[in-house]
Amino acid sequence: MKDKKLRSQEWYGRKGKDGFIYRSWMKNQGLPHHLFNGEKPVIGICNTYSELTPCNAHFRDLAEAVKRGVWEAGGFPLEFPVMSLGECSIKPTAMLFRNLASMDVEESIRANPMDGVILMCGCDKTTPSLVMGAASVNLPSLVLSGGPMLVGRFKGKKIGTSDVWRFAEDFKTGKLSQEEFIEAEAAMSRSIGHCAPMGTASTMAAMVESLGLALPDNATIPAADSRRKVMAHMAGMRIVDMVKEDLTMDKILTKKAFENSIMVNAALGGSTNFILHLTAIAKRMGVDIDLTDFDHFSAKIPLIANVQPSGEHWVEDLFYAGGLPAVMREIEKHLHRDCITVNGKTIGDNISQAECYDRNLIGTFEHPIKPDSGIAVLKGNLCPNGAVIKPSAASPHLLVHTGKAVVFENIDEYKAKIDDPNLDIDENSVMVMKNVGPKGYPGMPEVGNMGLPQKLLEKGIKDMIRISDGRMSGTGYGTVVLHVSPESAIGGPLAFVQNGDQISLDVPNRKLDLLISDEEMEKRKAAFKPESLPYNRGYVNLFLDKVNQAHEGVDFDFLVGSSGSEVKRDSH
Ligand code: FES
Ligand code: MG
Repeated sequence: MKDKKLRSQEWYGRKGKDGFIYRSWMKNQGLPHHLFNGEKPVIGICNTYSELTPCNAHFRDLAEAVKRGVWEAGGFPLEFPVMSLGECSIKPTAMLFRNLASMDVEESIRANPMDGVILMCGCDKTTPSLVMGAASVNLPSLVLSGGPMLVGRFKGKKIGTSDVWRFAEDFKTGKLSQEEFIEAEAAMSRSIGHCAPMGTASTMAAMVESLGLALPDNATIPAADSRRKVMAHMAGMRIVDMVKEDLTMDKILTKKAFENSIMVNAALGGSTNFILHLTAIAKRMGVDIDLTDFDHFSAKIPLIANVQPSGEHWVEDLFYAGGLPAVMREIEKHLHRDCITVNGKTIGDNISQAECYDRNLIGTFEHPIKPDSGIAVLKGNLCPNGAVIKPSAASPHLLVHTGKAVVFENIDEYKAKIDDPNLDIDENSVMVMKNVGPKGYPGMPEVGNMGLPQKLLEKGIKDMIRISDGRMSGTGYGTVVLHVSPESAIGGPLAFVQNGDQISLDVPNRKLDLLISDEEMEKRKAAFKPESLPYNRGYVNLFLDKVNQAHEGVDFDFLVGSSGSEVKRDSH
């Protein structure tokens, strides 16, 4: 710190009018002059607190713990809000606004006098949006997740978000009354924190830990556990040293770090949304990863964590069993142990002492919870740029299957027809939904695990093959093919599927094909007319214009890469 002038001094260290302006208004907060003299690194605390993002609604309190740590280590903390995306409320889908939030984060960090930043993340999209934005600036940055909820209890059973889908089916078939349904709502969300299974929020918290962007145990300490505040305090202390060490994001986010993260996600049976977000983050850093890396590095790794939706238990239980370090230790021989992390130590150092306290929760590499995990990437004439499926959440008997397509042109047609007793569908059919991709919906919503027809649920059918260009909640499960690219709305082959066509899925051989001739495919392609979408202004218009496809991370084309942290001009 002594030899390198702090970035914040480009504001606070100025003489004359500029320095006056940058400092004077800050002093209305009661801040003494010596805080601006360049001795204390300025730490931005990027906070996604919002009452409309209930998973992050405890972040005011958590930010206070971060500040105590920053002060203790000799830093100067300044908290700022950014757009906060609440998965459960935002229509048509929070994913539509991930890139918008990332722009807010990027510009807020770059434009302001800070030397390092704590990224406070929780609910699904709050993590990738903050990490993507920060990556395009590249200051020393440390992610602090808010932690999972305590597991819910309903009628004597442990419950969490993955039960929403089961409750919905039971409600539909009359096994749960309206009163019981409402009781279950309150029972499920009984504590602060994000979703209790290894859904997208916990997948993202594990992603940042495995990338080396968060302190060990970030992924699993429950939000309500006082040790989460201890972690916040330690994160505040550590970021001050990261500034002194100039430990910027590019030193941590190497190609090897991304490969580690893919392997760890496989060991956890993490969300398919991981693929989109990790790809987008890598592209911000200029690191080249593509869908084949996800398949290649996942294929080596079995399911180690016995956590919903791929397994039986909850992230809270995983913490008591040893947390992410204990899971990572089981796959240690495949990990790049030399990757540096935010605490200044390597991944190998961080997991070397990790212990498993419960083999029901954490399997071993030799005796895993399931042999297959991770993400399988499919190719074929239905998805020339790829599609994905999560084998650990699928039904083994459907992984190789050919069936008759039942097509829904869009979500409205699906909703109108799915429970029609005359719908020509049985358990061997393949359900196909179009126009739920990045541009088609727009925003690529989590509707890919579309519910089964009531008449088949009543017969006791639990799973069918479902194919779409949309996403699925990280808490979802089933034999669900997602992220078909290119999407149907821009004339990807998914657009040409017709009722009654045969579709062949072969997960072991990574194939997904529409069984029609090349001539027939060409004929249908020639007849394709894109639907015109009713958006001609505002952010959604920008989104439709600039968004790239699922295999590229659904980022905006103009956001790929970084602009660094330098700002050449002053404000007055
Ligand atoms: Fe926020 Fe699940 S709804 S993490
Ligand atoms: Mg989700």
